[in-house]
Amino acid sequence: MARIPTVYITDFDKDHLEVEPYWDSFYIFSNDAGEASSSDGCGWLGNMEDEPDIPPVKQVVVAICAMEKKSGSKPMKEILTRLEEFEFIRTVIFPEEVILKEPVEKWPLCDCLISFHSKGFPLEKAQAYTDLRKPYIINDLDMQYDLQDRRVVYSTLQREGIELPRFAILDRDSKDPSKRELIEGEDHVEVNGVIFNKPFVEKPVSAEDHNIYIYYPTSAGGGSQRLFRKNTRNSYVQIGSRSSVYSPESRVRKTGSFIYEDFMPTDGTDVKVYTVGPDYAHAEARKSPALDGKVERDSEGKEVRYPVILSNAEKLIARKVCIAFKQTVCGFDLLRANGKSYVCDVNGFSFVKNSSKYYDDCAKILGNMILRELAPTFHIPWAIPFQLDDPPIVPTTFGKMMELRCVVAVIRHGDRTPKQKMKMEVRHPKFFALFAKYDGYKDGHVKLKKPKQLQEVLDIARGLLAEIEQKRADPETEEKKGKLEQLKSVLEM
Ligand SMILES: Nc1ncnc2c1ncn2[C@@H]1O[C@H](COP(=O)(O)OP(=O)(O)OP(=O)(O)O)[C@@H](O)[C@H]1O
Ligand SMILES: [Mg+2]
Repeated sequence: MARIPTVYITDFDKDHLEVEPYWDSFYIFSNDAGEASSSDGCGWLGNMEDEPDIPPVKQVVVAICAMEKKSGSKPMKEILTRLEEFEFIRTVIFPEEVILKEPVEKWPLCDCLISFHSKGFPLEKAQAYTDLRKPYIINDLDMQYDLQDRRVVYSTLQREGIELPRFAILDRDSKDPSKRELIEGEDHVEVNGVIFNKPFVEKPVSAEDHNIYIYYPTSAGGGSQRLFRKNTRNSYVQIGSRSSVYSPESRVRKTGSFIYEDFMPTDGTDVKVYTVGPDYAHAEARKSPALDGKVERDSEGKEVRYPVILSNAEKLIARKVCIAFKQTVCGFDLLRANGKSYVCDVNGFSFVKNSSKYYDDCAKILGNMILRELAPTFHIPWAIPFQLDDPPIVPTTFGKMMELRCVVAVIRHGDRTPKQKMKMEVRHPKFFALFAKYDGYKDGHVKLKKPKQLQEVLDIARGLLAEIEQKRADPETEEKKGKLEQLKSVLEM
């Protein structure tokens, strides 16, 4: 099915949104590929010895280096299948065994590396591999250390001027006592001199630790909500299909280092954003695990997602996050509160699940990005294809780019009931008599609808047909035989 670009945004050079029932995808502007790098791992298709006349087709080798759970996941498979459709791209998955057990010198060669950290992944080995082979990198590896520490994530967001909740760090490992000062009141904490009134949020400094607590004010009954998560990103572990539980405990944790931050009052949903390069992001909303902890699921057991259209400001945030963390494929969370959007979590590499539109877009963007970067080095005759998504520049009342918000269609079905009509010219006096009988001369026409009247017409038709049968009819009537039969059969029905 042809894809229809539907949204263009004015703020940027290039912007595009395609409306889907459950999410928002957009382009912000044309992309410049990242740093150039290449290796000698370029693959070849075709056998030069057997078929000397057919020039071999060079292929760029794109490798996935991640834990098996991630590289064998459904979204990964969907996207790799689509990447394989690029004539000049071949994909390989590094087996987990090789990643964990083999020295990097023995890892397969590649020209482009898609590698990302998750639990148990040897990030330092992946770095050593890239130092050795220098492939074109899709998600920067050094930055993936930063992503494991909420403190570094927050300071990066601050540095980039991205809005985030007001926060303070309680670092119990610090030798500096001014960094581990905690004064606790019934309805507030003072962290290194910074006051947080309840409700506030307490997050472990490690981004891998999902035990986030939210403390309620006494006016709301006190206590706290304990969030938890296990296994896959975005699907909170179901302890009886729950993502959090209420605890009567009102005092904050006394061991470990935490970030304390203002609780941002949202409408009860988190906005999950997934970038594919700085120019594209997909967004969808989900019920916040902080709400009551009950996970909303559809009939298939999948977590319920709500449609989201990102504002221009949010699209700019997506661009900034993707660039700041050097993660082409990057998931992060937005909290819409007080008329603004705040980033409260950056997860790094993350694919959208169960969206074929996203799979198509993601593979297309990655494939084009990779070939744009590597085709010249490998002398691959590849030209950037005409992008259906290129925004048409049209003068409008507000600028040169149009933003299509929706398509309204009025649709009429194509079948029509055929008219059941027949026309017949009559000259026989019997018809004239009938015409006169029903006052036809008065108005110039008669309408016969009653059964009795129709019977009279049928009687005339039958009479005339009998005359024809008995060869008593005049030639003019005889000529009408076919029509008379039709008239008869219609009236007999
Ligand atoms: N400052 C805040 N104000 C309001 N709610 C918040 C705040 N910070 C976090 N939350 C809620 O808590 C949830 C979990 O927080 P966060 O995303 O930081 O943790 P995480 O465990 O790293 O999440 P993820 O599963 O995305 O990695 C958020 O999705 C949001 O609903
Ligand atoms: Mg999160």
